[in-house]
Order: sequence, then structure tokens, then C-alpha cells
Amino acid sequence: MTYSLALLPGDGIGVEVIDETLPLLEDVADTHGFSVETERYDWGSQRYLEEGAMMPDDATDILEGYDAILLGAVGHPDIPDHVTLRGMMLPIRKTFNQQVCKRPSVLFDGVESPLRGYDGDDIDFVVYRENTEGEYADIGGHEHHGFGHEVAVQTAVFTRKGTEDIVRAAFEEATERDGKLTNVTKSNAQAYGMVFWDEIVDEIAADYPGVEVERLLVDAASMDLVRRPDEFDVIVASNLFGDILTDIGAIVSGSMGLAPSANINVEGEYPSMFEPVHGSAPDIAGDGIANPLATVLSISMLYDHLGETAAASTLWDAVETQLADSDAPRTPDLGGDARTSAVVADLRDRL
Ligand code: NAD
Ligand code: IPM
Ligand code: MN
Repeated sequence: MTYSLALLPGDGIGVEVIDETLPLLEDVADTHGFSVETERYDWGSQRYLEEGAMMPDDATDILEGYDAILLGAVGHPDIPDHVTLRGMMLPIRKTFNQQVCKRPSVLFDGVESPLRGYDGDDIDFVVYRENTEGEYADIGGHEHHGFGHEVAVQTAVFTRKGTEDIVRAAFEEATERDGKLTNVTKSNAQAYGMVFWDEIVDEIAADYPGVEVERLLVDAASMDLVRRPDEFDVIVASNLFGDILTDIGAIVSGSMGLAPSANINVEGEYPSMFEPVHGSAPDIAGDGIANPLATVLSISMLYDHLGETAAASTLWDAVETQLADSDAPRTPDLGGDARTSAVVADLRDRL
């Protein structure tokens, strides 16, 4: 079996973590009897500075034929973020209808949480984030620039289809994990979109009587992710809330450099995209010290999505074993002094 994979390293440490982890991706394919043909597209901020656009006009036509996409990160300190992200990444998520964003937060054995009293495996939850609409809908406007009556409107959009799809995906995951679902909204203040979302959760819950449903407001959920992260299992949330909660999830489980994610096109008519949760990290870009493990875990999720479950487990387990080994190299975000390349070299040895 041969899979085709589009690589979009993007910007900053995105380029470093994709370049460094690529050999690992290929090793694992070899040892599991399949192959991956990768094509690299150097789209991103450098291209924008040189040519005025992050991606070519036909970027999504080019990407559409691939089995999956692996993205590094997008964002450059000299270009406004809304230009770079709306020029790359956000349009891919939307055009390919990658409605389900799945983001696990696991405190691995051997990793220290900034929260007191948690050991390896105490924290293990997954956020199902709606990924193509909600607060990220590109609907609104900004006019009368510079006048006293200047106005900006940004409309959040909640469709029945989009909401049902993410909520159902989260219930399926909760069923598989034999666990609990926490629905996070802000229905006390947002009486249309968020109340609609809650109603859909109630409707779909009827199909999953075995899943316990907890309901939290997003402010309290943010507090509880710090106060009692061990009690969460599956969280379902809107686009913006899911974005914020997954940064909290990443850091309570040790580092932004350990958090993977999958942007999934549920119907399978378009490629899904896999990426670390973190950004281009301009503060450490070019230093060669970015933690590559979020990307390795994202590749594991990619292989799982392609049905290569053994390869997916091999990668996930290698990361787990490496982190549990106190003699293994670690990047500075995990308290070590190793370089990105040393962490990957050690992982390759383990494989
Ligand atoms: P960031 O995730 O890039 O960095 C936040 C902090 O975490 C920084 O201190 C950084 O050094 C650290 N960090 C992140 N990843 C790390 C890794 N792998 N190893 C070690 N440390 C790591 O978030 P930010 O600073 O808010 O954003 C920087 C740029 O990235 C902005 O332009 C933003 O819009 C963009 N961004 C892009 C994505 C994406 O492409 N998926 C995600 C988030 C932010
Ligand atoms: C993420 C990022 C993006 C998001 C930004 C860069 C638009 O923060 O993937 O978490 O909010 O989705
Ligand atoms: Mn984010």
C-alpha cells in the first residue's frame, strides 16, 4: 500500500519539526510494510513576503488529491496573523470540511505537570473542537475606518449539521472510551448559538444512554481544567472555546510541544490534516530546540486515520517510552537541554 502525503512545513518551528520528523515517518512506514510518497510545498510567510500570497490560487486543488496533509505551523512576526492564517491553514480546514478537530491531552509518565500532585497518566482527556464554523466563521465586516462611528461586526455561526456532526463524533469517542462527555458552552450569555448547541447535545445524548453528560460554562471549565484535570475524559466545544481549552490542556499535561491534533473530514471526501497544536514559536524559531514530539504524535494520529493502526501505536509507544526514560534527551520546554535532532535520533534508535 502506498499513501500520498502533502507536507506543509509552513513557518518558524513548523519547518524544523517537519524536517526533523520526516525520517521517522518513513522508518515506521518501512517497518510496517507500507510506503508513503511525500510532496513538500514550501508555502507560508516567506512566499507571502516574496510573492504576495501564502499559497498559490489553486492550493486546495493541488492538495485535494492527497490521502492526508501534515502541517507544521503558520505565523510570522512581521505579518499580521489574520493575513497568514486566513491565507493558509484556516482555508484548508474549511475548504476540506475538516469539521472535527480532535486534540488529546495526556500527561505522559516521566513528564512533569506545572500543576502540583499529578503523575504520569493522571491526566488523559481529549477535546473535540468544532473546526469550520462557530466563532471562526468569516462573516462580518469593518467599516468607517478612523471615524467615531467606526464599526466591526464578527458573527458566530452555528449550523445544525456542523453542531450535530461534532457532538456526535464526541459521543462516539466517549462511548469508545467508556467514559464521560463534558459539554462546554457559554449559554448564560450567548442565548442563541450556545443554547442551540446545548439543545443539540441533549437531543444526541438520547442516542447514547451509556454516556454520562456533564455540562460546564467555559469560564468554569477553564478553572476546572486547572483544578481537576484528571476528571475530564471527552470534552466537546465550539471552535474558539476548543482552541483555548486545548492550550490549557497542552500546558497542564506538560508542554505545548507535546500536544498533537487531527483535523478530520468525517465523510472522507477530502484529505484530513494533522498538525501539532502549537504555533510557529518565533521566540525559539531557528534555535533547533523545538520539541518535535507533538509532531510525532500527530503523525501517529495520521497513521491511525489511514488505518495503519500498528504504525500509529509504534510511534505513540516510542514517544511514551522515551518520555518515561529519565536518561533520554529532552528539549528545554521539558526541562532538558537537548536539541530537536537529538530527540528524534533517540526515537529512531528506539524504533
Ligand atoms: P506558539 O504555540 O507558537 O508558542 C507559545 C509558546 O509555546 C512559546 O513560548 C513557544 O516557544 C512555546 N512552544 C510552542 N511549541 C513549542 C515546541 N514544539 N517546543 C518548545 N516550545 C514550544 O503560540 P504563539 O506564540 O501564540 O503564536 C506564534 C505564532 O504562531 C503566531 O503567529 C500565531 O498566530 C501562530 N499560531 C499558529 C498555529 C498553527 O499554525 N497551527 C497555532 C498557534 C499559533
Ligand atoms: C490552533 C491555532 C489556530 C486556531 C490559529 C493559529 C488560527 O491557534 O490551531 O490552535 O485558532 O485554530
Ligand atoms: Mn490554538
